[in-house]
Amino acid sequence: MRLTEVLNFVAVILVPVFAGPVQSPSLALPQTVSAHWAAVRKMFESSYKAYGKFAWGHDDLLPLSESYSDDRNSWGASICDAMTTMVSAHAFCMCTQCSPLGAQIDTLSVFETTIRYLGSLLSAYELSDKKYPELLDKARELLTNCENNDIPYGFLDFSTNTPVVQISNIAEAGTLTLEWATLSKYTGNDTYRALAENSAKHIASLPAPFPSLAIQGIDPQNGSFVGGQVAAVDSTIRHLLRYSTSRNNNTMNVTYHTSSHLACFHGGKWILGGKLFKNETIVNCGLALVDACINTYLSTVTDIGPETFAYISSGGNLPELTPQDLAFYNQHGFYITDANYDMRPEMLESNFYAWRATGDTKYLENAARVLHSFNRYLNTTGGAFAGIVDVNDVASETIDYVLPCSFWFSEVLKYLYLTFDDPEHISLDEYVFNTEAHPFKAPPAKNI
Ligand SMILES: *[C@@H]1O[C@H](CO)[C@@H](O)[C@H](O)[C@H]1NC(C)=O
Ligand SMILES: *[C@@H]1O[C@H](CO)[C@@H](O)[C@H](O)[C@H]1NC(C)=O
Ligand SMILES: *[C@@H]1O[C@H](CO)[C@@H](O)[C@H](O)[C@H]1NC(C)=O
Ligand SMILES: *[C@@H]1O[C@H](CO)[C@@H](O)[C@H](O)[C@H]1NC(C)=O
Ligand SMILES: *[C@@H]1O[C@H](CO)[C@@H](O)[C@H](O)[C@H]1NC(C)=O
Ligand SMILES: *[C@@H]1O[C@H](CO)[C@@H](O)[C@H](O)[C@H]1NC(C)=O
Repeated sequence: MRLTEVLNFVAVILVPVFAGPVQSPSLALPQTVSAHWAAVRKMFESSYKAYGKFAWGHDDLLPLSESYSDDRNSWGASICDAMTTMVSAHAFCMCTQCSPLGAQIDTLSVFETTIRYLGSLLSAYELSDKKYPELLDKARELLTNCENNDIPYGFLDFSTNTPVVQISNIAEAGTLTLEWATLSKYTGNDTYRALAENSAKHIASLPAPFPSLAIQGIDPQNGSFVGGQVAAVDSTIRHLLRYSTSRNNNTMNVTYHTSSHLACFHGGKWILGGKLFKNETIVNCGLALVDACINTYLSTVTDIGPETFAYISSGGNLPELTPQDLAFYNQHGFYITDANYDMRPEMLESNFYAWRATGDTKYLENAARVLHSFNRYLNTTGGAFAGIVDVNDVASETIDYVLPCSFWFSEVLKYLYLTFDDPEHISLDEYVFNTEAHPFKAPPAKNI
């Protein structure tokens, strides 16, 4: 979503203001980061080479079996997702595998296709200074038959080009605006922007159970919220700059606050929102959230964070924890409920926002520690990097496959790289990142 649109949305719940600068005026990179900067490049090259050797043209590499999987339309998701990271590093890739025409697929996720394929094509088109019009052509081709419905259906049957009738979630329905509006901007066809914006505006206008927190499900057939679950649907929240709290589980008179790696994008978004609204209270909340997520990393023996974790409120009874979990909880203030690391980006993403917004070099040190651990614990003999089963075990096994992990290329390595890169490069005052970390030029903020 473009900056101005973000502001328009948030204006519904907050007072209108001029947007403030996001990046700290006193960002000074110490000499020592150049080694880290080079190490991230090396990690990217090694990962990408392994992908090229064992999985080229397929969506994802299976790092241990040295094979591939195709869960993202079989259009070479890793190539497209890697493209804007390489463009940011001035090594352009043409994304020749992006054409949907050759692919044999049944159903397609509109959301995943938008954030990965459309996002990378349009971002690379911009980053390369519009030098490659074929990127724009491919992007237009992707939306040739886009649905004409107020709320987008989450999935499309690609062979018959008809929507799959089922409940959409608000990430699917509420976050297409940035990419679709950018496509309209460059093609001159306003249809895409209007469709995506109308859907997002509709969601923002529905009565919410909690102030400004939307329900997760929405029925595309009648535009109503469905069910009662309010969850951190990360993409929508990332776009609307709103937040959700952790889930409370109030059984047996014990309150657990469960949270997850995925939810760690919160910190960065609070920082961004607070800076835009010139509200240091919000920035500080964001920084506290970043610290909590960093704590989940630096508390483990690997310095890598778990997939899910939990806190216990004061006054509640302690849940029945194993002695090990209890000891961990007493030492670190949280306990681990799922110890996998699935190669996710959110902590490094928020840590990157914290660095750019404050100039505090402790965020560089956090990133350096995590980079070191990735090299030590996620490395495989084939040169690829893999998730691990137990972040609190230095001898943990690696995971052959958990998720479509092209976000390793587009998000994890990009945020790490940019953390150690010249802060004027992809400045947060000039760019906004889409859900998959593809950067888009932000229009100047306007008074609203
Ligand atoms: C704009 O795009 C829509 C969706 O692809 C298409 O139906 C319409 O014909 C296009 N309009 C023009 C003027 O090209
Ligand atoms: C919309 O459809 C859902 C079922 O998906 C139904 O529960 C709800 O009552 C409908 N809302 C309206 C306003 O028709
Ligand atoms: C709540 O916690 C209890 C006890 O740990 C667990 O059995 C239950 O599945 C949890 N419920 C939810 C919705 O997380
Ligand atoms: C929860 O607490 C209430 C009041 O403090 C008590 O009446 C109830 O028995 C407790 N329930 C359980 C499952 O411990
Ligand atoms: C900053 O945000 C907080 C939290 O939303 C709010 O209570 C406070 O009034 C805001 N401060 C200003 C100056 O707008
Ligand atoms: C990963 O790196 C560590 C530290 O350099 C090394 O001890 C280990 O053997 C490597 N693992 C693999 C599978 O190459």
